[in-house]
Amino acid sequence: MILVTGGAGFIGGNFVLNWLSDANAEGIINLDKLTYAGNLATLASLKHDSRHQFICGDIGDGDLVLSLLKKHRPRAIINFAAESHVDRSIHGPSEFIQTNIVGTFNLLDCAREYWSSLQEEQKEQFRFHHVSTDEVYGSLSSSDPAFKETNPYEPNSPYSASKAASDHLVRAWFHTYGLPVVTTNCSNNYGPYHFPEKLIPLVILNAINGKSLPIYGDGQQIRDWLYVGDHCSAIREVLARGRLGETYNIGGWNEKANIDVVKTICNILDELKPRADKKSYADQITFVKDRPGHDRRYAIDASKIENELGWRPAETFETGIRKTVEWYLNNSEWVEGVTTGSYRDWLDKQYRN
Ligand code: NAD
Ligand code: TYD
Repeated sequence: MILVTGGAGFIGGNFVLNWLSDANAEGIINLDKLTYAGNLATLASLKHDSRHQFICGDIGDGDLVLSLLKKHRPRAIINFAAESHVDRSIHGPSEFIQTNIVGTFNLLDCAREYWSSLQEEQKEQFRFHHVSTDEVYGSLSSSDPAFKETNPYEPNSPYSASKAASDHLVRAWFHTYGLPVVTTNCSNNYGPYHFPEKLIPLVILNAINGKSLPIYGDGQQIRDWLYVGDHCSAIREVLARGRLGETYNIGGWNEKANIDVVKTICNILDELKPRADKKSYADQITFVKDRPGHDRRYAIDASKIENELGWRPAETFETGIRKTVEWYLNNSEWVEGVTTGSYRDWLDKQYRN
């Protein structure tokens, strides 16, 4: 048994599906609070799979977490649960502090209590895997080398600051209490089941719905993009063979300017679902007011995980983005389920001007 938190979200949901696609896989206890970003529709194919048990609850609820650990006795915890959207963290940071910092603290402390009670052999095998982001390292200039695990933490947004704080707690629980932890810091993910507040799914859906494609500032900000299936395979490698107390950067070796990402999506849509007027979807691109404190460039040096564990991404950006566009075109039912009233309220608040 493993305990996954945040397994109804984008990456956690993909991870749960990926893990259970192996007929011999251990079962999963999936603890998720079902915030706006959590969608059980992502897990619909597991409805009759007894290896998956979903628990609706908060990682900050100590009684609940401890009772789940004592009852199910997992050999690992993989913590995906978080508030994850930078723009929302700017509008309202409080939930980010609560879940990402206080929630992670609670999870660590419950894990420590449970782990301390285990027999020696189980104790040695236990893992607490914390899923984090490259945004903790701050922003790079165009000539800086990519982020290495040794880069200092320089978070700039409420989101990245809260994730940085959680990474520090995980590190402290290893050094002070000996809890067997590993942390992974990954670049921007994309792929199926991505909530359409983030750039890639937002642009795909706005394009086919005839809406404008909002680009913040000059669109020259650079992100490294990783297909979500590759992130899942990297997590599995680190969980299985990562060295205790270490952090591993995970990235796609795919630095792209936002404007180029959006133009690539438009080109694929022009081919797969041409507009009725035969014009390009790129005509819908609109430059809007920049995000406050917008980080200019993220880039990941993923050579440590490659050298130590032999992991490299399987998808290029070109193959992954095509799969992703096709997935959104073929899964309108999932999309309709998540683009509800509260989603429309968010779009109105964020893009009103
Ligand atoms: P997401 O917002 O899509 O999903 C987060 C999930 O956590 C949701 O299902 C939500 O209901 C759940 N959740 C939120 N608060 C909770 C709480 N207090 N208790 C229990 N569950 C709670 O996020 P995501 O994109 O899947 O990201 C997952 C993890 O990966 C996060 O920790 C994020 O920081 C990290 N990460 C994300 C990216 C990315 O590009 N999306 C990149 C690197 C790292
Ligand atoms: P996002 O998907 O929110 O991820 P993150 O902020 O964690 O990197 O944004 C990716 C990039 O796209 C980021 O530089 C902000 C930019 N962006 C836009 O230009 N327009 C948008 O509407 C959104 C949501 C993001």
